[in-house]
Amino acid sequence: MAELKRSKITAVGHFLPEKRLTNHDLEQMVDTDDEWIKTRTGIEERRILEDEDKASAYMAAEAAKEVLDQRGISAEEIDVIIVATVTPDYLFPATACLVQNYIGAANAFGYDLSAACSGFLFALTTGSSLIEAGTAEKVLVIGSDKMSSIVDYTDRSTCILFGDGAGAVLLEPSDDGTGIIDSIQHSEGDTNCALYQPAGGSLNPASEDTVAQRQHFIKQDGRTVFKKATEGMADVSLEIMEKNNLSADDVAWLVPHQANKRIIDATANRMGLSSEKVMINIDKYGNTTAATIPLCLYDWKDELDHGDNLVLAAFGGGYTWGAIYLKWGL
Ligand code: COA
Repeated sequence: MAELKRSKITAVGHFLPEKRLTNHDLEQMVDTDDEWIKTRTGIEERRILEDEDKASAYMAAEAAKEVLDQRGISAEEIDVIIVATVTPDYLFPATACLVQNYIGAANAFGYDLSAACSGFLFALTTGSSLIEAGTAEKVLVIGSDKMSSIVDYTDRSTCILFGDGAGAVLLEPSDDGTGIIDSIQHSEGDTNCALYQPAGGSLNPASEDTVAQRQHFIKQDGRTVFKKATEGMADVSLEIMEKNNLSADDVAWLVPHQANKRIIDATANRMGLSSEKVMINIDKYGNTTAATIPLCLYDWKDELDHGDNLVLAAFGGGYTWGAIYLKWGL
């Protein structure tokens, strides 16, 4: 049997809309306050894509263009585009096909992956497997979410949490021992729907009734999800460390999904990591769902050293959760 190749990240791009929605702005919209939001979540502001004619595909394409520029390659060289999103422009066609058209990746095939806040992590594992198997040489993995399109700005328990943005990476075969070394993925069907968007799918298609009942927005039982997320993210991060014999000293960075600073702190504690080793930008962007992890990689890319051990970890609706261990290869 042919030896499996390893894949590594060779470029990182991002897109963030200009408009900032601050906690003080939200104080004018719902019964909340800056102090409550900062203490309970760590969020100070989020970005909002205001243009009505632009959505997740546009943001994904902008992030992808930055990746191509950084790597100095043309879009025609891309083999695969995987877009993780829960806010696709349309239910179909796939956002990845729209991105292909936006950037001119004529030789690629693409599809979307739906795993909520774990979407980017699952997409990175999928992309990596395509390279390991020899199916592809250049895979664009993108997380893009226009969360403002499904956030109910009259619901104070959810509207404070989410923001819009996109992040993208290029995966290519690695020949220097760096790259994606291991991944663990979990899901657990949540039939109680603690976190979901009730309408717009085939079970509850859009109707006057679904609109009147505000069923096209995110609904969340915050306390239940918080408990599951704290357990899930901490457990899986420890699991990947143990599986790969990594001590806290071996880990250079934790790259956590940014849903709540308290969930991130609990994960870092379980791993025995000090706060200097944890990427946190939730204060600036809130929870951008599939975009949080690549946005962290983008913000920290100049501080990462070749060979650094990174643990990526996420938890999301579904439920879905997982972790990736990689050696930084840039
Ligand atoms: N401003 C002020 N008060 C608020 C509020 C807001 N924006 N939102 C909720 N409250 C109130 C609640 O009504 C409640 O009041 P009560 O005690 O009188 O009923 C009180 O604050 C505490 O609510 P609770 O939901 O227990 O707060 P919490 O500490 O769990 O924080 C979340 C709420 C949403 C921040 C937290 O549950 C969370 O982060 N959940 C997970 C979210 C998540 O990760 N989602 C994505 C999946 S990855």
